[in-house]
Amino acid sequence: MKIDIVTIFPDYLAPLELSLVGKARETGLLDVRVHDLRNWTHDRHRTVDDTPYGGGAGMVMKPDVWGDALDDVASDAGTGPAPRLIVPTPAGVPFTQGMAAELADEPWLVFACGRYEGIDARVVQDAATRMRVSEISIGDYVLNGGEVAALVMIEAVVRLLPGVVGNPESLREESHGEDGLLEYPVYTKPPSWRGLQVPEVLLSGHHGRVARWRRDQALRLTAQRRPDLIDKLDPDALDDHDRSV
Ligand code: ADE
Repeated sequence: MKIDIVTIFPDYLAPLELSLVGKARETGLLDVRVHDLRNWTHDRHRTVDDTPYGGGAGMVMKPDVWGDALDDVASDAGTGPAPRLIVPTPAGVPFTQGMAAELADEPWLVFACGRYEGIDARVVQDAATRMRVSEISIGDYVLNGGEVAALVMIEAVVRLLPGVVGNPESLREESHGEDGLLEYPVYTKPPSWRGLQVPEVLLSGHHGRVARWRRDQALRLTAQRRPDLIDKLDPDALDDHDRSV
């Protein structure tokens, strides 16, 4: 997978050199390029923003600078398929595990990280004539810019690429995985720590009982913390025991 990121703070993306994402880059599973938006400015001051039409507080990012940047970054395609453009914004559609899986199937993503009050709306309109564009929010809160949101999305996507996570089984049983539940609590040695015991059933070696316990815990936790996820479960996927938890 190829990922381009356009930002006025390239240093913000430094964590992409670390951990699983960094390793995926080293092994050639992932090609990441970070671009400084100011390379496409047209004036001595390298201006990227201007006052909003209609008035109001803050500044808006200039369409001409963004337009040129995206033209150049996406022109790398030559005659090949255009990238999918992701614009992180608190006004976007909510990012989910399902969306991470969808993006993990794309060969090429371009992230356009806005700052200030956002990017002139015509930039997305114009880009959408040439490529698929998704404006995505990582949650109902406001960050100072799209960089951290891009990091979040990239990490969620890259760990789904084949070969990035050592044991693919570990992707199946986690929160927001296939069963639509939050993950059950986990424990390791020692069996007793500061007077707290590992639940007996996990020491039993009885796979069926362990699996039942884990599902019960996942159901309970999800009902407590995320009742909205319980409402979304497929009723046919619940057995009688599930319903009694
Ligand atoms: N930029 C600022 N806040 C954001 C959010 N919540 N999600 C995505 N991009 C953002």
